[in-house]
Amino acid sequence: MKTKKGINLYNYSKTIIPGGTTLFSKRSELHLPDKWPAYFSKASKTNVWDLNGNKYLDMFCAVGTSILGYSNDRINKSVSNTIKKGNMTSLNCSEEVYLSKEIIKYHPWASMAKFTRGGGEANAVAIRIARSCTKKKNVAFCGYHGWHDWYLSANINSKKNLDQHLMSGLNYEGIPNELKNTSFPFPYNDFQYLKRLIDRKNIGIIKMEVVRNIKPLNNYLQKIRRLCNKKKIILIFDECTTGFRQNMGGVHLAFNVNPDMAIFGKALGSGFAINAIIGKKKIMKKAENTFISSTFWGERIGYTAALSSIREFKKIKCFPKSRS
Ligand SMILES: Cc1ncc(COP(=O)(O)O)c(C=O)c1O
Repeated sequence: MKTKKGINLYNYSKTIIPGGTTLFSKRSELHLPDKWPAYFSKASKTNVWDLNGNKYLDMFCAVGTSILGYSNDRINKSVSNTIKKGNMTSLNCSEEVYLSKEIIKYHPWASMAKFTRGGGEANAVAIRIARSCTKKKNVAFCGYHGWHDWYLSANINSKKNLDQHLMSGLNYEGIPNELKNTSFPFPYNDFQYLKRLIDRKNIGIIKMEVVRNIKPLNNYLQKIRRLCNKKKIILIFDECTTGFRQNMGGVHLAFNVNPDMAIFGKALGSGFAINAIIGKKKIMKKAENTFISSTFWGERIGYTAALSSIREFKKIKCFPKSRS
């Protein structure tokens, strides 16, 4: 099979883009060094075609973004209509309000939402809002949450700290040393470890993935919820990966444990950039006391794609536990 075009372009790319690509998981070296096709020319349903025209079955689902299949006709139609009418203006797009209302509808414990394009951004926003609500600024976390300083700073103490949290050996050059001892990882399903961490490290925020490869055992999530209530800790569920995948909204709904804030991304926009941060009103209102703003968070296509995806999820009843 000829895959030369992609291989050559990737090799060239490494001379003008650090690391060859902006998403770590799409680096050829992680998959099939010197043989990986690297780039797609088109995509449809579960297939992608490389630059040489070879067709592949893609089980990776674009890092989990495209559960309705690539280049879904209905999502594309909605987004195309939006593009025709205008994607960006000096005014807001009303879809932002409708999306907030729609996501809150599925999460009755929450009453406000904010949006970003990327999941790392959404995590940074969530931590900023949570920190603005509590004097205890230290974060305990479990799972992968993105590229930002607050997360990577956990590796300043030991480069192995993040090894059990999806990606190992992450470099942290450029993170100020002053952030050392402000965020602390904890292993999944070990409640006693978390309890000890909280007693020792003045933790005000717990940020975690609800579930990834293993299920919660022995009422793990319920115990964390109770601990947060007792110690006045803000509990954030990062559902960038799990949200809108198993059921309509966060997978925490299926486990019957509500956080104080939650984050959704990936599947929400069916491959278009949109992430949501939702939360309780008294917490989310604090976002008004700290500057959180970005030009392209106003882009209309992400909101359109998310609204269209939710419509589609409902229509094809793709979630057995749908609350709709
Ligand atoms: C749980 C979780 N949080 C955050 C992120 C970061 O999202 P993004 O890659 O869109 O910045 C990811 C991405 O894999 C994720 O799985």
